[in-house]
Amino acid sequence: MAVKKQTKVICFANNKGGSGKSTTCANVGYSLAQMGKKVLLLDGDMQLNLSLSFFPEDEVLAMAQGEKNLYHAIREQKPLTDYIVPTAYEGVDLIPSSTLMSGIEYELFTKWQRELILKKCLAPVRDSGEYDYILLDAPPTLGGWVMNLLCAADALVLPVEASPWGLFGLANMFEFLGAVRDMNPALELLGIALTKVSVRKNYFKQTMEILSDMEDVYVFESIIRVDSSIEWAQDSSRPVGAYKASSRSAQEYAALAKEVDVRVHR
Ligand SMILES: Nc1ncnc2c1ncn2[C@@H]1O[C@H](COP(=O)(O)OP(=O)(O)OP(=O)(O)O)[C@@H](O)[C@H]1O
Ligand SMILES: [Mg+2]
Repeated sequence: MAVKKQTKVICFANNKGGSGKSTTCANVGYSLAQMGKKVLLLDGDMQLNLSLSFFPEDEVLAMAQGEKNLYHAIREQKPLTDYIVPTAYEGVDLIPSSTLMSGIEYELFTKWQRELILKKCLAPVRDSGEYDYILLDAPPTLGGWVMNLLCAADALVLPVEASPWGLFGLANMFEFLGAVRDMNPALELLGIALTKVSVRKNYFKQTMEILSDMEDVYVFESIIRVDSSIEWAQDSSRPVGAYKASSRSAQEYAALAKEVDVRVHR
């Protein structure tokens, strides 16, 4: 019998849109699998970006319009074990999303213990011990659904875009985390991952200065620089490491995944 794994659930969240959540979730997930880890990715966003990182658009839309997706699982409070689809990559499975996730707040509203529904649906997957990592991609909002994602997680990775507006709204995120911790006191901020970095630009230095002044916040050493390979990879529905393993961002994401794994096991 296979040894049960100690599953770690990590949510990638930031209410700031376009901060690199889905890109980081997909590529850290792929890189962890390349390290021999078994990874489940959960697409928690109606934009379907995490699903699109692994499947072509027609297949993502078919999954989104069918019954085997996150929306139906949450609405009917079913165990997520039955909603897992394998990807083309060894060690990477996915729970696809649906555009109907736009109505998930409404669905949650009338339910008992509505902050904990995802946690309950995910419990059988987690308890099966099949996965080393379950990575959750959050939408750019702060509400009942993101509360669900963070209540189901052990840790949070906060992707921040190194841009003039990248830190805008971070205070709201931290305030929200305070409310989440009332429900899930064990939730750990694993670190801030800097994305879309242009090292020569001034606001990268400014962002680093502001972040390094923040107490008790770890900033990952592995930064992700702007790289067109990311967009080409996404255009071909592949993680960047599968699209072009020699690209700078493939190597940066591999380094970030190692750092995540080290911090989880420190
Ligand atoms: N390192 C990078 N180099 C170049 N482009 C990038 C990089 N990382 C992300 N992008 C691009 O930036 C955009 C936003 O990235 P992504 O979708 O991962 O952010 P997000 O936080 O998930 O967005 P949302 O808040 O809408 O969910 C995408 O178009 C993506 O292709
Ligand atoms: Mg996203």
